[in-house]
Amino acid sequence: MAEEVIIARESKNLTGTVQVSGAKNSALKLIAAAILGQGPSTIHNVPLISDIDIMSQVVECLGAKVQRQGHTLQVDTTGVQDGEAPYELVSKMRASISVLGPMVGRFGHARVAMPGGCQIGARKIDMHLVGMSQLGVSFQMDHGFLEASCPEGLHGAQIYLEFASVGATENTMMAAVVAKGHTTIENAAREPEIVDLANMLNAMGCKVSGAGNSTIEIEGVPLESLHPCEHRTVGDRIEAGTFLVGGALMGGPLTVTGIDPSFLRMATMKLQAMGCDVQLGADSITVSRTRPLQATDIQTLPHPGFPTDLQAQFMLLAAVAEGTSRITENVFENRFMFAAELMRMGATIYIEDHHALVEGVDHLEGAPVESTDLRGGAALVLAGLAAEGETVIRAIHHIDRGYEDYVGKLEALGANVERRVIG
Ligand code: UD1
Repeated sequence: MAEEVIIARESKNLTGTVQVSGAKNSALKLIAAAILGQGPSTIHNVPLISDIDIMSQVVECLGAKVQRQGHTLQVDTTGVQDGEAPYELVSKMRASISVLGPMVGRFGHARVAMPGGCQIGARKIDMHLVGMSQLGVSFQMDHGFLEASCPEGLHGAQIYLEFASVGATENTMMAAVVAKGHTTIENAAREPEIVDLANMLNAMGCKVSGAGNSTIEIEGVPLESLHPCEHRTVGDRIEAGTFLVGGALMGGPLTVTGIDPSFLRMATMKLQAMGCDVQLGADSITVSRTRPLQATDIQTLPHPGFPTDLQAQFMLLAAVAEGTSRITENVFENRFMFAAELMRMGATIYIEDHHALVEGVDHLEGAPVESTDLRGGAALVLAGLAAEGETVIRAIHHIDRGYEDYVGKLEALGANVERRVIG
């Protein structure tokens, strides 16, 4: 059967400037948040990626009209009704669950298919439910659907999250904005995308303060007082970090623009620790390297710790660095799938539980490999540019979920890379 692949060939360098797109993880939630505005909201700087298409379809299923003009989405939620988010879409993308909070906020009821492999009470969305339950929402399962209702209405609450979950913070926040009274979310996630969401909610008339800190305060307002808004999505720190890894791997200098450098403080510190030179601008970061990469230790943690979404890319750097690096994954279980593919290219990696020991080798070799996930796929393409010969990367739909025109942007930086249909 014909399949589109990415072919990455040994390249001399990655150098020049690349403009990063809007943050995937922000734009997805902004589209969901538009439900609360009950009218046509305009969201700028939305990346052209397949996950955004899925989220658009989710809100369309609920009755919204979504129109795209370049990087601007017009999300008209006037006609949204108390419908359901179907399994075909939710099973493609877990983030579909983020319509739960705004739907409950608007209708006092929501029906969303359970993402595959999850059960109420089990890991993954338990904290979303705990947060919203304290606002007065009750949940039940109905033939594979999660049904949320709050006949008594939403009321403010003092909520403490067990773990600073991004999704749970967002869903709880989007319901609490229209709850009666005051809500405090403690141990809230502090990711820049949470701040972006709070800014859009405030532009719609909500009263959220403290986003970006671990305590978020929300003064509930009546749903009727909310209105549509115009908002610009923040830059994608993970896309930026991925290109910076490319520059660090190949030498650079490589500049990413359209990103607040403070979003990537931990990643840029690690690049420096690995022997790179890093220059920070107002909305740009430049990386270059003239000496061999050095091993380092990395632990993924919720923001402002080292992002789990850059773990695979830094594992690639560690794979060709001098010395042995230790990488500890604390946020997700089983997030080392990428290591097995990189080992097929000659990397030496030992995995035990959630630790990886990466012994640097002096070169990688091109090989046929498969994207295991979004970030791992992007890292494999970079690995192919540094490796001897040719690397064919399959299952590239993972990459298309989150990177707009990845191949085009790499080519513009001097990479020898192409998409091709084979088979
Ligand atoms: C978001 C990002 C993802 C990023 C992650 C952590 C989106 C669309 N995705 O995912 O790219 O890697 O943040 O920065 O924004 N957990 C539970 N119960 C819950 C919620 C989470 O056990 O109710 C666990 C998860 O299984 C995971 C960890 O907590 O092990 C972190 O999850 P969370 O911060 O919620 O990540 P997401 O919002 O799913």
